Amino acid sequence: MEQEIGQRKADHIQLAVSGDVGFRGKTTLLECVRLIHDALPDLDADTIDTSVTLLGKKLKAPLVIAAMTGGTPEAGEINRKLARIAEQRGYGLGLGSQRAMHLDLAKATSYRVREEAPSALLMGNLGVVQARQMHTVEVAALAAAVGADALCIHLNPAMEIIQPGGDRDFRDGLRTLQRLSSELPLPVVVKETGCGLSTSVVKRLVAAGIRHVDVSGAGGTSWVAVETHRAEGRAKALGEAFWDWGIPTAVSVWMAAGQGLDTVIATGGIATGLDVARALALGAHAAGLARPVLQALMQGGEEAAHAFLDGVEAELRAAMLLVGAADVAALRRVPRVLVGELRAWTEQI
Ligand SMILES: Cc1cc2nc3c(=O)[nH]c(=O)nc-3n(C[C@H](O)[C@H](O)[C@H](O)COP(=O)(O)O)c2cc1C
Repeated sequence: MEQEIGQRKADHIQLAVSGDVGFRGKTTLLECVRLIHDALPDLDADTIDTSVTLLGKKLKAPLVIAAMTGGTPEAGEINRKLARIAEQRGYGLGLGSQRAMHLDLAKATSYRVREEAPSALLMGNLGVVQARQMHTVEVAALAAAVGADALCIHLNPAMEIIQPGGDRDFRDGLRTLQRLSSELPLPVVVKETGCGLSTSVVKRLVAAGIRHVDVSGAGGTSWVAVETHRAEGRAKALGEAFWDWGIPTAVSVWMAAGQGLDTVIATGGIATGLDVARALALGAHAAGLARPVLQALMQGGEEAAHAFLDGVEAELRAAMLLVGAADVAALRRVPRVLVGELRAWTEQI
């Protein structure tokens, strides 16, 4: 089992960096969010304030490097690099699923990044199906062992149903989330992995006491696609059929916003600063990026990852200036026009 997880992690990194794992015919629909140009901004571009407080920690920009990896020496190397980047830039950082270290404590070193990121917002990670089978104290110990400020519990039924040998029994997820959020000593972030959270799911989460979500919607990395590459025969055909499954990120942010949550993170296909600005104008508190950061890092090292993220931030600042938003709170209140398919979703749900 452990060896299997190690191989799967290696496959995931390789496929995410070089594979054909994007959605084919579906986008985030963030392009359907039109921001309104302000020709007379009463602002100095150099004093625009992009800082936010997320899950109790101050970030220099409303950005999170979303959960990716852990459990192998290569993954540990990646996590340490991502941690240095997050610390230097004042971002949040999500660790990959800690299932591997639950099964073998020796793997914990690949998740221990506090030395590289002493002050960054650090989020642990575990699947709801694994968490269901664990006592709350065991889950708390996983988070404590890496010095996490919050714990993401991920939901990934679409990926599991395609993955050879993946989980098939998803019962009692909500009850597990309710237990963890009421008993754990740190905030729980309920996170999808690329298929998005619907209005109905968010309502059930809120009723169960959940205050924080990462919608991780469709339009960026397709985890069904990743598992389809690894599958054979009938599982591969199933994966092909569901390659583009999921709720576009813009729709999911729109669904989660306005339901009184303390934190809505918009992950899934965020690739530019304009995407970040649009997601925040729709109601997200921060945006998350996974694969684009990994690709830049693996292709050109930390320097390339910083260059990519410099571009994202420059675009976010430009967008804030051009809509007349002096800070993130103002950006979240700017008027926006929803067009095309996004508008169709908002009118029919
Ligand atoms: C290589 C890789 C590994 C991932 N592993 C995890 C994981 O262990 N736990 C999790 O919650 N999400 C995981 N994700 C999902 C991302 O956090 C994110 O939700 C998804 O990739 C969509 O974002 P993107 O379009 O920016 O890649 C992983 C993503 C990548 C690219």
